[in-house]
Formats: sequence, structure tokens, C-alpha cells
Amino acid sequence: MPRDLRVAVIGCGKIGATHAEAASALPGVELVAVCDRTVERARELAGRFPNVVFYDAVEAMLAEAELDAVLVATAHKHHFEPAMQAIRSGVAVLVEKPLTTSLAEASELVQAAEDAGVTLGTVFQRRFFPAAQRMHDAIQSGRLGSVVAAECLAHLGRDRTYFERDDWRGSWVGEGGGALLTMAIHYIDMMNWMLGTPTSVYGRWATLKHADYIDVEDVAGAVVTYDSGAIATIQAMTTFENGFASEPSPTVRYQAPGFRLAMHGSMGHSVGLQESPELAQATTDLWTFDGEAEQAAQWREQEAGRPSLPEFHRLQIAEFVEAVRAGRPPAITGRDGLLALEVVKGVYLSQARNAPVSLPMSDADRLAADELTESAREAVR
Ligand SMILES: NC(=O)c1ccc[n+]([C@@H]2O[C@H](COP(=O)([O-])OP(=O)(O)OC[C@H]3O[C@@H](n4cnc5c(N)ncnc54)[C@H](O)[C@@H]3O)[C@@H](O)[C@H]2O)c1
Repeated sequence: MPRDLRVAVIGCGKIGATHAEAASALPGVELVAVCDRTVERARELAGRFPNVVFYDAVEAMLAEAELDAVLVATAHKHHFEPAMQAIRSGVAVLVEKPLTTSLAEASELVQAAEDAGVTLGTVFQRRFFPAAQRMHDAIQSGRLGSVVAAECLAHLGRDRTYFERDDWRGSWVGEGGGALLTMAIHYIDMMNWMLGTPTSVYGRWATLKHADYIDVEDVAGAVVTYDSGAIATIQAMTTFENGFASEPSPTVRYQAPGFRLAMHGSMGHSVGLQESPELAQATTDLWTFDGEAEQAAQWREQEAGRPSLPEFHRLQIAEFVEAVRAGRPPAITGRDGLLALEVVKGVYLSQARNAPVSLPMSDADRLAADELTESAREAVR
């Protein structure tokens, strides 16, 4: 029997608790420590599990806790530092999305991990939805011919309470992006996974509903091309009512639709999934192969209405620790995190230049994209 892998969570906020719960439930994994710069949060989370030590500094934890892997669940702008500290200590790192908000930092992490031979992954747990896996399988096995077009929708609802709950949300300085960077990025990654290498992005964003209290985008649209020739469209919005974490609207009755991803192939077939409402397990909503309608209806019945947290974090963390144990790359790498980030930041750069941006970005474009979004609001528009 191989020994249990010793794992710690860094960042004991909302999703950090999900990571701790998911890791503690995995066979072959021992949750040994948690860390938050706000020590009360670390103490409170540690107290929920047996024999978990809490820390308020990453350095001390890395020095003392004899870790094999850390799960980084801090706010966006605080992913880089703990992840880099872990890599320098030879400890595997799974970082919440977005990998970072800066392309320079994301590339540095990827390079440092590769140079040191340390496993680096990015959390995009939605790839583990069975509905996503079967779309991917259908595309990989050639059942669609080649994919000619894709649509990626993030039709989400947020409200003032949501943005004001955490001091880092909603600003370029604190969050580094909005509907695209924080929400749609899950499905942008899924699209990259299914379609391959993006070659260009052209996009627009605006702050049209929540502008009194945020300055990042609450609406965005983009066209992404892939090296296969496929053309994908993205629409990302947080302008709907009655979405995640909001009080029910007194005047508007409908619920925010959630996410949708669909792929259309050269042989006339289409496959798709829908996550509705947001945070439910996605279900297959489009599957046009002859004679398979009943099968698709069965999948929907089996998978509809299930919560996605913490189950799909558990599956991704399980795959990640297996990769660490086996010394192979995880299913979702640091490079995948960098690729998704580049599509998002390509939209911001495209708007600033009023022109498409070629991907992968040149070094000069990466610098320009970082300068735009890592500085003040005025510079971004
Ligand atoms: N995969 C998903 O579905 C999903 C869902 C929610 C959040 N997230 C991601 O998780 C991250 C955290 O989101 P959240 O809503 O839990 O935020 P949060 O504000 O609730 O928690 C973040 C925690 O990190 C701590 N922290 C910040 N900097 C730190 C540092 N340098 N060292 C130690 N602790 C530090 C804060 O004190 C806080 O407790 C974000 O990047 C977000 O995108 C992912």
C-alpha cells in the first residue's frame, strides 16, 4: 500500500472549505493542514476535521507540515505567491481558477513548475461532469466529423450583495476581471479542451448593470477561432436576476439560466450541455445522433438537479493526487490555466485595440494585456 499523500489547503474562505471537505473524503489522501492569513478562518476550518493543523503563513506551513501537495483557494490576486512558494519547496500545487490574473505570473508559474519537475494543475472541476466528458469523447472519436462552430454562454445573475461580500470582488485591482475571468473561464477552458488550440480572439466588454459598485465587465461577447478552423462565440453576463447567491428579486420572477456549451460538427450533428441553475451538475441538452434520443433522455434524468459542489472538486482533486503519485501530468495542467487566461485577456486587449488578437500572444501582447488590466480602470477601457 502506498502511503497517504499529505495535503493542505491555502485560503480558508468559501471554496477553501469545499477543498478541505473534498480532500478529507478521499482515500489515500490525508488533509493535514490549512492556512489562511486571517488566522481565525484557518482555526475554524481546521476545527471541522480531526488532526488538522492551522497556520497563518504559507512559509511556516511549508517548512513544518511535510506536505506532498497544496490546494490554493485564495482570492485571484493571491494565487501566485503561495503557488510559487510551494513549487520552490518541491510541493505539488493545484490552483483555483483563474490560475492568476497576470499572464506574466501565469507563465512564470508554469515555467517554474516544469523546470523543477513539480506537478501544477488548475481547478476547472466542471470538465469532470459526465455530460462534458461525453461531449469530449464524441468529438475525440470523430462522431461529429470536425467541429465547425461552438457556442459558450454564461448567462448568470449577480447582485450588489454578492460583489460587496468580499472586498476583492468587482474591481480591476482586486479581481482583475469579471464575468469572463471569474465565471465564463470554466467553460472557456472546456471549449479549449474540446477544440484544441485557439488562434485568435476578438471581443467586447462593458459594465452596464452593476456600474455603481463594480468596474470589471458584467457583459462581454467574443469570437474565438481555433487551429482546426472552428469558430466559437462566447457571451458572458452577470446581469440576470435571481442568480447564484442573490436574494430573490421582488419584481422579476425568472431565474438566471446558467451556463451552456454546444458544439456543431461537419457531419451535421451537434452535442451540448447545460448547467442550469448555475452550480447544478450539467446535463446533456443536445445530442442529435440517430437512435440515441432515449439514451440522452436517460442521462438527463440521471444527472439533472444534482449539486456540483463538492463532488466535482473531489473528482478533480482525486485525479490530481493520482497524477502526483504516478509522476505524470494531471488532466488539467497549469498550461491549461494559462491558455484559458490568455483567451480572457485577449478580449480585454482586443477591445482596447479595436482589433482581433492573435493567440498564443506574442511577448509584447502579453505585456500589453497585463499592463491594461493590472492597472487602473481608465487604462482598461
Ligand atoms: N472552482 C470553482 O467553482 C470556484 C468557486 C468559487 C471560488 N473559486 C475560486 O476560489 C478563489 C477563492 O474564492 P472564495 O470565494 O473562496 O474567496 P474568499 O474571499 O471567500 O476566500 C479567500 C480566502 O483566502 C485568504 N487569503 C488571501 N490571501 C491569502 C494568502 N496570501 N495566504 C493565505 N490566505 C490568503 C483570505 O483571507 C480568505 O479567507 C477565487 O480565486 C475563486 O475564483 C472557484
